[in-house]
Amino acid sequence: MCGIVGYIGNRKAYPILIEGLRRLEYRGYDSAGIALLADNELEVYKQVGKVADLEVVVPDTEHRQTLGVAHTRWATHGEATTDNAHPHYSFSKDIAVVHNGIIENYMMIKRRLLDAGYKFRSETDTEVIVNLIESERKQGKVSLELAVNKALQQVHGAYALAVLSKSEPEKMIVARKGSPLAIGLGVENKEFFVASDAIPIVEYTQDLIYLNDNEVAVLERGKKVEVKDIYGKVKNYKIKHIDLDMNMVTKGEYEHFMLKEIFEQPNTIANTIFSHLSDNDDRIYFEGLEELKKQLSKARRIIIVACGTSWHSGLIGEYLIEELARVPVEVEYASEFRYRNPIVREDDIVLAISQSGETADTLAALRYSKEQGATTFAVCNVYGSSMARECDFTAYTYAGVEIGVASTKAFTAQVAVLTMLAIAMGVENNILDDNRAVALITELRHIPELVEKTLQTDKAIEKIAKEFLDVNSFLYLGRGINFPIALEGALKLKEISYIHAEGYPAAEMKHGPIAMIDESLPTLIVGTNEAFYEKIVSNAQEVKARKGTIVAVVNEGDTELAAMADYVLTVPKVDELLQPILVAIPLHLFSYHIAVMKGCNVDQPRNLAKSVTVE
Ligand code: F6R
Repeated sequence: MCGIVGYIGNRKAYPILIEGLRRLEYRGYDSAGIALLADNELEVYKQVGKVADLEVVVPDTEHRQTLGVAHTRWATHGEATTDNAHPHYSFSKDIAVVHNGIIENYMMIKRRLLDAGYKFRSETDTEVIVNLIESERKQGKVSLELAVNKALQQVHGAYALAVLSKSEPEKMIVARKGSPLAIGLGVENKEFFVASDAIPIVEYTQDLIYLNDNEVAVLERGKKVEVKDIYGKVKNYKIKHIDLDMNMVTKGEYEHFMLKEIFEQPNTIANTIFSHLSDNDDRIYFEGLEELKKQLSKARRIIIVACGTSWHSGLIGEYLIEELARVPVEVEYASEFRYRNPIVREDDIVLAISQSGETADTLAALRYSKEQGATTFAVCNVYGSSMARECDFTAYTYAGVEIGVASTKAFTAQVAVLTMLAIAMGVENNILDDNRAVALITELRHIPELVEKTLQTDKAIEKIAKEFLDVNSFLYLGRGINFPIALEGALKLKEISYIHAEGYPAAEMKHGPIAMIDESLPTLIVGTNEAFYEKIVSNAQEVKARKGTIVAVVNEGDTELAAMADYVLTVPKVDELLQPILVAIPLHLFSYHIAVMKGCNVDQPRNLAKSVTVE
C-alpha cells in the first residue's frame, strides 16, 4: 500500500525524504511526491511513476528546508496521475498532508466542503481530509492540532497521516487508525523521523514509537513528543528499541530483492527454527505456548485466517496440525471470513498468518474473532505490527525485512513456524510419540543446509525457465501437503511474470482442467510425496497422453517421474511433512527467472503492493 515519510529537525529534509521513499517504494510505486516547508513557503513536487521519476521534476537546487513530508502511492481513489499523487495541500495552500489508507465517508464530507466553496484538484479522499482540517481550523480559529482532531473525529476509515502547515512551521502532526505509523526519536528530541515502517528510519535512530489506533502525536522541534487520542486525552507511549541490520534493506550484490531474499533462506529459516528451539533438549518454545496448550485441551478447532501467500502457508499448517495433532483446522480467506458472519466461539483458537502483520482483511478477521471471545494467535514477521500487538500471543517468523513484493523467505519461515507449532501441539495432545517428534525436529534442524543445497540448482532452473518465456498459461499440480505449494507456485508465476497460472490438486485435474491440456499448456507437477507417488505418476501420464509438456519437481534419486518429465527440478529427499519448504525454492526461482527474462519488474510487479492495508 502507500508509504509515507516525514522529517522535522535540524538537518536538510530532502535527502532524508527521498532516501526514505526509495526504501518504502515496495509499498506502492505508481506515483510519488514530496512537500518541503520553510520561510512561509510550501514547495510541492509530484510525479507519476517511481521515486526516480519524481527526482527528475524536483529542481536541482539546494533544498534547505528542515521540515517535509513525502509519499509513494498505490492508487485506490483516482488513477495514478500527478494531480492524484500526494502530498495534497489545502485550498489556500497552507496545509499539506500525506496519507496511507482509505477514508470511506469522503464523498459526504467533500459535498459539504464543495458547498462551502472549497475546490478540489484531485479525485482523492486525501484532499478531502486536508481541506476538512483547513475548514475546521478557520471555522473554529483553532490550532493545527485541534483542527486535525476535529477532522479525524468526522472521518470513517483507515489512515496514517502526516500533516504540516505554513502557519505552524515548527510542528508536524501525525495520526494513525488502521494503517501503520512509526515515529523515530532523534537526538534529544531535536528531530523526529516519521514513516510507515521502521525501514527508512533505522539509519538515523533505533528508538521508535509505534502509534496505536486513534492516536495523534505532535512533533515539535526541541520538545518531547506528545501522544493524545483524537479527543485530546493524553496517552502513554512506549519507546521500542529496534535492532535492524541495514544490510537487510539493501540489495547488496544481488540484482533484485526477490533473488536476495530467496538466497537468504538458509539463514532466515535457521533463525526462525533456532529461535523457537532449545539447543539441548529439542524443546519447542513460543510465546504463549503454555497457554495455547491449555486452550488446546478445550479447543474445538483452530481457524486460520490469512491472505495470498500467507493463506497458502495456512493450508500447509492445516495439513500439519491435523496430521500431527489431530485438531480440526479450517483455513479461511480473511477477506471472505470477515464479511460472512462466521461462527466463532470462545473455545476456538484463531491463528492469523501474515508477513506484514498489517493486512487489513486479516486484521479485521482477527478483531472480529477477538470480539467473539476466541483466543487469538499471530504468526507474523514484523515486530510491533498491529497483529503482533493485538493478538493474545505472537509467534514471530525471523525472516528479516522482506522488501520484494512477492513473498518468498517470509513464506518458508511461516511454514517452519507452523511445522513447529504442529509438532508441539501433537506432543501436547499425546498424538505424536516422542520418537516421531524427535525424528522430525532432528530433520528440521538440517533443513537450512538442505535449502542451501537446493539453491545450488539455481543455474539449472534458469536454463529450464528460458524454455517457457512465450507460454500463455501454466498448470501447477500437487497432492496432499504439496497441493498448497502448487497454488503458491502458480500465484508467484502470475504475479511477477503476468503469465496466467492455475494451481490444482493433482486428482482434480480430471474434473475440468484436463480439457485444457495440449502442446501449448505446460504442467508443473510436484512429485515429491512418497505416499501418493504412483498416483502422481498416473497424473503425469495423463498429461503426456495429451501431448502436454511436463516440468516435474522430484526428490534426488527419482527415476520414474523424472524419466517421464520433459524438464526436471530436484530437491533433497526429506520427510514428506517437511517437503513444502524445500519445494518452494525451485518454484520461486522458476517464476523469478521467467519474469526477469521477460523483462518484468520482479520486485515491484504492476498493480501490486507489499502490504495491503486497505480493503
Ligand atoms: C504474494 C504476496 C501476497 C501476500 C498477501 C498477504 O507473493 O506476497 O499474496 O502474501 O498480500 O500479506 P501478509 O502476509 O503481509 O498479510
